[in-house]
Amino acid sequence: MPFSSLNFDIKESHKLSISPFDRGFLFGDAVYEMILSINGRCIFLNDHLARLKKSLDSIKLNLNFKEKNLVDEIKRISNLNDNPFQAIYIQISRGVQLARNHLPEENLSPTVFITSFKINNPSDRQKGISALLKEDERWLKANIKSTSLLANVLSKIEADSEGHEEVILHKDGFLNEGAVSNLFLFINDDLHTPSLDANILPGVTRGKLIQSAEADNINVIQRIIHISEIDDAQEVFMSSTTKGVIPVVKIIGSDFDTDHPGDLTSRLREIYLREIYQA
Ligand code: PDD
Repeated sequence: MPFSSLNFDIKESHKLSISPFDRGFLFGDAVYEMILSINGRCIFLNDHLARLKKSLDSIKLNLNFKEKNLVDEIKRISNLNDNPFQAIYIQISRGVQLARNHLPEENLSPTVFITSFKINNPSDRQKGISALLKEDERWLKANIKSTSLLANVLSKIEADSEGHEEVILHKDGFLNEGAVSNLFLFINDDLHTPSLDANILPGVTRGKLIQSAEADNINVIQRIIHISEIDDAQEVFMSSTTKGVIPVVKIIGSDFDTDHPGDLTSRLREIYLREIYQA
């Protein structure tokens, strides 16, 4: 039976409930994190905590508890749920406000929810996905890991209905990222990825992959990338905490179409897998 924590009270997941007056429920006034846990170890925990702090600061949400309490609770959930591979989900909303008003009342008590989802071993065989090129219809603050994800949800539904696993979002002719992942292209053996001034989430996996690639003498270029450059790419992959390196073999709406994941992507994936097992 999975366990979850609501406001630092741990129970079996199906026994939890929250108020419908929670601002997370009414307005999506909440941020979240997703952390990979392998055999109870939270991978790149400090990077996720740093990003969570940035998200909280960006929406001016002040916590009324110590970060250490949050870290202890994350570790408790990770250890109580004994699946070898878990995604630990942390959501913090601005709290419960009985009089619905876009303007938050002062001194609300944030709602803190931590749970765990069983996931596949990130090193399971990856045969490569197909992705759909699509106009980015999200808001302009994708750097905040907000739970307001309706545009991402609709993009995933559209991709799935056409038999594809992910979308590649673009705006004004330039590439951003996927609905749930960051984007990388190998062009002339260099690794290109949209820079952080594109409308993207600063993915923890993205950051780690840039470091690993550079340590492996791959030239990494973070820049604004035009949509037409996909046609020239040797290899394309996407990245996320739960799936690691996700090779892309076909991009609908472009000329990019290969039979199998490329060698450079596979090599970087192996390096990354070694890192998460050792982290
Ligand atoms: N998604 N971009 C978007 C829009 C994302 O939702 C995610 C992660 C990423 C990759 O970030 P990271 O490497 O830190 O996981 C990029 C998570 C896994 C999710 O919402 O389920």
